[in-house]
Amino acid sequence: PIHGVIFDLDGVLTDTAEYHYLAWRKLADEEGIEFNRGANEALRGISRRASLMLIIKNKKYSESQIQAMLARKNRYYVEMIANITPKDLLPGAIALLDELRQQGIKIAIGSASKNAQMVVERLGIADQVDAIADGYSVQQPKPAPDLFLYAAEQLGVPPKQCLVIEDAAAGIEAALAAGMWAVGLGPCERVGAAHVVLPSLAGVTWAGLQAQLSKAVV
Ligand code: BG6
Ligand code: MG
Repeated sequence: PIHGVIFDLDGVLTDTAEYHYLAWRKLADEEGIEFNRGANEALRGISRRASLMLIIKNKKYSESQIQAMLARKNRYYVEMIANITPKDLLPGAIALLDELRQQGIKIAIGSASKNAQMVVERLGIADQVDAIADGYSVQQPKPAPDLFLYAAEQLGVPPKQCLVIEDAAAGIEAALAAGMWAVGLGPCERVGAAHVVLPSLAGVTWAGLQAQLSKAVV
């Protein structure tokens, strides 16, 4: 039985994945580095620093230049998310959050982002979640299991009784490494390792999800 659900934030509850992409592209353009949507797929769910490393590849930058670029990208991103409202919740998100709450299931956010707290507040769902694990919570980012294990601990639910909902390959890997159930949102090439793969949260109910998980081959 599942007693806790851990939601990834970017790309699961809201489409901030697009803003991350636009902010990185602005930085890459300014640095004269080639970067496109295809390259951006590899950045889904991974930390800010790891993302920059993949973008600059083997171009040589000093640590202070790297720090400055990380801060600059974040400035662009924070500007872009300043206007987020509850309307930016993806289809199906609020219905599932409400249903889980009614059923007494504990809810956490498990996001690599250091901006997760702000996004959660702007989306108007701060009262719907019991815990937030974010980019400040642990040292090892996804695909390490640490962030989700931290979230489960905050909820007081054993990992085996937790379900993670993720849109990123690194997030599914982290969930499985944590010994949790995993639902992947998006194409199989990206989240195919999850127990259940769905296109999005639209129309998803807790009863339906439990039925699909019980049929999943473990
Ligand atoms: C993840 C996003 O949730 O957070 C990544 O999927 C992002 O794209 C990462 O790089 C870190 O976010 P932030 O806000 O701390 O730069
Ligand atoms: Mg995500």
